Amino acid sequence: MKPFRIGDVLLAGNIILAPMAGVTDLPFRLLCKEQGADLMTTEMISAKGIYYHSKKTNDLLRIEKEEHPVAVQLFGSDPYIMSEITKRIDSLDFDMVDLNMGCPVPKIVNNGEGSALMKNIPLAAEIAEAVVESTN
Ligand SMILES: Cc1cc2nc3c(=O)[nH]c(=O)nc-3n(C[C@H](O)[C@H](O)[C@H](O)COP(=O)(O)O)c2cc1C
Repeated sequence: MKPFRIGDVLLAGNIILAPMAGVTDLPFRLLCKEQGADLMTTEMISAKGIYYHSKKTNDLLRIEKEEHPVAVQLFGSDPYIMSEITKRIDSLDFDMVDLNMGCPVPKIVNNGEGSALMKNIPLAAEIAEAVVESTN
């Protein structure tokens, strides 16, 4: 398998676990790792949920050492909250931050999150910039 690079992260190959809400939790990721996936991704995690200390949301941030490299996928539409949460999770040892701009589910889109950001490119860019500036 050819190595594959995303930014500074070198993957052993190009088999990447797609983020899947309700599916790619910790036990599922460990199974995928065991079966040879090269990059793990959490399910989409609400930045607002972390910001307001939802225990359920915080539990989604748990990762294990053997998962690396592992990406966390965040969703949200408030650049300030996205930036604050990126700073907060920077110490959690994720290798990458993935921003969800594709979720089409009504309860997400109706909050201006997920794929709604594709209808507001300036806001999407502002979020990306805020996140990049807030991570190492
Ligand atoms: C049950 C389910 C949950 C998903 N949840 C997410 C998610 O949390 N974040 C995301 O970016 N995409 C999510 N997706 C989209 C997948 O990551 C992927 O992009 C999509 O399934 C297309 O890939 P495929 O052609 O290999 O199926 C989800 C897809 C499924 C089927």
